[in-house]
Amino acid sequence: MMRVWLPCVPLVAAVLAISPAVAEERSINLLDDALIEGGSELFQMNCAVGYCHGSEGRSARGPALRDREWAARDLYRITHDGLSGTSMPAWKSVLSTEEIWAVTAYIMTLARNPVEAANALVSIEADAEGPRELTGAAKHGEELFFDLTRERRCGLCHRLGDKGTAVGPNLAVVAGEKTAEDLKRDIRQPGKLRAFGFELTEVSTRDGEVIRGVLADQSPAGVKIYDTSVLPPVLRTVPARALRRVRARNGRSPMPEGWESVYSDAEIGAIVAFLMAM
Ligand code: HEC
Repeated sequence: MMRVWLPCVPLVAAVLAISPAVAEERSINLLDDALIEGGSELFQMNCAVGYCHGSEGRSARGPALRDREWAARDLYRITHDGLSGTSMPAWKSVLSTEEIWAVTAYIMTLARNPVEAANALVSIEADAEGPRELTGAAKHGEELFFDLTRERRCGLCHRLGDKGTAVGPNLAVVAGEKTAEDLKRDIRQPGKLRAFGFELTEVSTRDGEVIRGVLADQSPAGVKIYDTSVLPPVLRTVPARALRRVRARNGRSPMPEGWESVYSDAEIGAIVAFLMAM
């Protein structure tokens, strides 16, 4: 099944008034009525529009947000960073940290597991903008991840911060949901990965070419696919008139195997420390 979401065009974002006291404490109460009200307005203006999440989160072309189980911090991260490879954009350049938390607070009121009073207070310190200072293994891991002297490197397909290319999933979001052991296993056995929206896809053209990789966009005009059979992956555009078929290759992953011949065990450990610190 192919997802065809229309891109969510950010409309003008409302400016949410946050009282200075809240901003100084750098924590937010997800059950605060004014916050939820502000979040609801932001949601109607930015997220319900067009064909995205629908009014009150009842799906349109994007996934329904209502009646699902969410962890507030995951919602915050996905909204903040977007989901690479899908039409869900990153909102961090459009909405402030406080505004994204307001939208999160509102969506949590629609969730199957609403916020409980005991967990309502979230610290937004960790979300403060500005580059994070990495130290030790995590810093070394960052260098290895983007190491230009290696022909094969993670940064060719994964984007973190303002570096790398977004062919594969946003690992800052992924790392928040996984343990260091999970991440090591992912790197050692990418063949077992099934990240939603990043399945291996095969695009066949009318003149007999077959391109394998990650689908970047599909519309009546044609498809865009990252060809991952070459490194760095190349973004190819196939117009509808040249297109024969698009087919998911279930059971195989576009992330290459064999990283143990590129990075030593200790280096993979450092890369994982870097991902965990993001
Ligand atoms: C050729 C592009 C490419 C390169 C290079 C690459 N990856 Fe990936 N990676 C992907 C794709 C595509 C996926 C999603 C795969 C799937 O679900 O089948 C993925 C998935 C992952 C996941 C799991 C994400 C999830 O949603 O569960 C992790 C962790 C990961 N990569 C880490 C790395 C690290 C670390 C490196 C370097 C050692 C690396 N990748 C190199 C393309 C790449």
